[in-house]
Amino acid sequence: MNGHTSIPSRLYQPESVNLDDFKAICNRKVDKSTYPLADTVEQNVPIYDLADLEADQQHPITATSISNLQDEWHHILHTGPGIFVLRGMYNPARYAPILSSTNTAFNNIIAKERESNTTQGDHFAAGGTNDRIWNSFSKHALEDPASFVKYYSNPWLAAVCSAWLGPGYRVTAQVNAVHPGGAAQESHRDYHLGFQDTDTCLSYPVPTQLTSQFLTLQGAVAHSEMPVESGPTRFLPFSQTYAPGYLAWRRPEFRAFFLEKYVALPLSLGDGVFFNPALFHAAGANVMDAGLGGFRRVANLLQVSSAFGKAMEMVDAIPLIEACWEVLVKRYQGAGKTFADGDLDPGKFSQEAREVRAFIQAVAEGYPFPTNLDRRPPAPSGMAPESEQDIVMRALVEGWGREKVVGTLRQMRLDSQP
Ligand SMILES: [Fe+2]
Repeated sequence: MNGHTSIPSRLYQPESVNLDDFKAICNRKVDKSTYPLADTVEQNVPIYDLADLEADQQHPITATSISNLQDEWHHILHTGPGIFVLRGMYNPARYAPILSSTNTAFNNIIAKERESNTTQGDHFAAGGTNDRIWNSFSKHALEDPASFVKYYSNPWLAAVCSAWLGPGYRVTAQVNAVHPGGAAQESHRDYHLGFQDTDTCLSYPVPTQLTSQFLTLQGAVAHSEMPVESGPTRFLPFSQTYAPGYLAWRRPEFRAFFLEKYVALPLSLGDGVFFNPALFHAAGANVMDAGLGGFRRVANLLQVSSAFGKAMEMVDAIPLIEACWEVLVKRYQGAGKTFADGDLDPGKFSQEAREVRAFIQAVAEGYPFPTNLDRRPPAPSGMAPESEQDIVMRALVEGWGREKVVGTLRQMRLDSQP
């Protein structure tokens, strides 16, 4: 309550934080019947086997079945345990060569950055136990466009991102490779407010603190096997629903409770895990035997930002589209049938068409603002000017060459300046 009036303060107070409230929240249990499409629930984490779903001939995947999955995923992230696993998201039966080429690209980038000493290291780990690629999204595109296009064409990625963020999201990615001896992280919350100090968090109004979770989806794809001893991420289910959590996660008593109660699931190559950025979590310790060929735990961390939020990393789509254009055109031409904007219905479009669409969603901006409305008035039929995604779609449908699509995107960027 505020001293001068009966209305409540817009801000949390340091005393808003209470460990008993947090414990009560985190002692909840997932009822499997809440998520009928999940295969199992392990340690309060619903697990979906996408490889099984894809292989089920009797129940082919449809727009409705995807939407039903998206309902469950959204509920989990919002008021449920805050985390789920997608087994076989990058099903090795199909994606093994792509994951392998992608890992090669990552290793090349790590070697180059080490050589040129451009890397500033990792604020989470001691030197030498950890390889980190910041903005692996852009670097992967420029290093190996062929595997980049295939990797980010995964329609499951589009389904999970749009389930939480709606269309028009921005994918960013960071690679984390942890060697034996790599220590565990301290538990924390993620971007945005997880990257602010406590005083700064306190100065953001309560509803803003609660809203920030809806602007980011946090995820990871396993690029190696991840047995428990290799230190897959530790999570505290339901902790994202603790409203004053951004003020609490640094406190020693909350960190002690996290260490008592966290769960960590082993992952296999190609599995995905997605979680609410407000969920308390921490990378585990890699205690694998260093003698076993120096087993590295490798994950591509996906941080996907709503069109309505500010992403952590800046991605410039134009050089990426420039690097990938020939590969993308070839895949589009092989997809058989052109597709309508935003339409990913497996009943209407081939897997290839859905992959092209998913890639465009990952690489180009789907949201046309901020812009300059003097120079870029809304299209006659709509409220908004063309977005990067609209231009890329038009370019594919009309058979543009690389120069024309890149030139048009650059002009759009120029016209958007004040
Ligand atoms: Fe994190």
